[in-house]
Amino acid sequence: MRVLIIHGPNLNLLGERQPEIYGHQTLEEINDYIRTSARDLGVEVEFAQYSGEGEIIDAIHSARTTFDGIVINPGAYSHYSHAIADAIGSVKIPVVEAHLSNIAGREAHRRTSVTAAACTGSVSGFGQQSYALALRAIAQTQGK
Ligand code: DQA
Repeated sequence: MRVLIIHGPNLNLLGERQPEIYGHQTLEEINDYIRTSARDLGVEVEFAQYSGEGEIIDAIHSARTTFDGIVINPGAYSHYSHAIADAIGSVKIPVVEAHLSNIAGREAHRRTSVTAAACTGSVSGFGQQSYALALRAIAQTQGK
């Protein structure tokens, strides 16, 4: 099983970006953690980070024929990108949303995720473990 991990905008600055909210780990360190979890699950992972909405949409489209699932943290796009939500809704492979912080407990504009609504499910609030849990969910379930 092959799963694509997509990190959205500003996640490339993890480690220095608001560590009190997102922790001190860099994106590379988080990817290492995900890689270890993937190895334990017997899943192959690839990583991508994009700032642009269009790049994320293109990545979702091309993953539909080359991957068995997607774990995505769309960053702030989660809260308003109907275009990314439509892309997620257009593919048959399972897509699970992951957030480092618990978006349900943050500012009002972060409490809704329009992209999560299009996903198979979502995990929020467990730091880097959100990604590992999302990956496990894909590995252990079938389809949408
Ligand atoms: C985030 C939460 C979003 O609200 C924020 O814009 C991010 C990170 C998270 O992982 O907690 O960029 O997606």
